[in-house]
Amino acid sequence: MSSKKESVSRTIIVALMVCLVCSVVVSVAAVALKPIQVTNQIIDKQRNILLIAGLLEEGPSIGEQFEKITPRLVDLRTGEYSDARDPLTYDQQLAAKNPEMSARLTSEEDIASIRRREHYATVYLVENEEGIETVILPIHGYGLWSTLYGFIALEGDLNTIVGLGFYQHGETPGLGGEVDNPNWRELWQGNLVYDDEGEVAVELVKGTVDPRNPDAQYQVDGLAGATLTSRGVENLVRFWMGESGFRSYLQNLRSGEA
Ligand SMILES: Cc1cc2nc3c(=O)[nH]c(=O)nc-3n(C[C@H](O)[C@H](O)[C@H](O)COP(=O)(O)O)c2cc1C
Repeated sequence: MSSKKESVSRTIIVALMVCLVCSVVVSVAAVALKPIQVTNQIIDKQRNILLIAGLLEEGPSIGEQFEKITPRLVDLRTGEYSDARDPLTYDQQLAAKNPEMSARLTSEEDIASIRRREHYATVYLVENEEGIETVILPIHGYGLWSTLYGFIALEGDLNTIVGLGFYQHGETPGLGGEVDNPNWRELWQGNLVYDDEGEVAVELVKGTVDPRNPDAQYQVDGLAGATLTSRGVENLVRFWMGESGFRSYLQNLRSGEA
């Protein structure tokens, strides 16, 4: 009887020790791998920025290629550059959840369904001797299942789209997840955001854009079988190009007052 008791307690002790050793190994691995994870996230974001701006090349490292891009912090309340934070380390996703770093949007303003808009955003500039070649702006908003995080890149005219893409979302692969399809992403290239009156005119249409339509230059095909994600993408693009997003910044940039 006592030997039976002994074997039960030993089994429990051994099981506990195995649990302890395993939890220590998992914790040490998680802590040790964290910096690598963070570095990889940064590289992935930079790779996406280069891709969306049409600058990604085979060969040179992402870090080397990213050297031609200048990150700047923009105060979205004024549309002017700010030194309040380091644009490289500023975490916009985190700021959007912090009441001191963001402001609640009214339901009328919140067409992207993001509830709060952060005060600052990091934008990325590619410049040449003549001025701005490309400006890459962070955008995010709700699709069907998730918040999509991405970028829109504009030419130096601050109206023609160079590219659009998302680096993080949880939409269904094959449906809303087709936002990652290179063929769909290509449809954005060369389209215009603002009409002649300066109003946000970009939109997603159900089906295929009719090239004879006078508004075709503002239109992109919606995703087949994913109308709700498409609507989310349209809304978030319109939000970030509008009054609560980068409109004032782009106006300031145009007039040289940013
Ligand atoms: C399992 C499942 C996943 C879905 N995922 C998406 C999605 O990611 N994005 C989306 O817009 N619609 C998704 N839908 C379809 C929507 O419910 C809806 O039917 C669709 O957006 C309508 O688009 P359509 O008018 O182009 O057919 C999903 C449906 C199911 C059953």
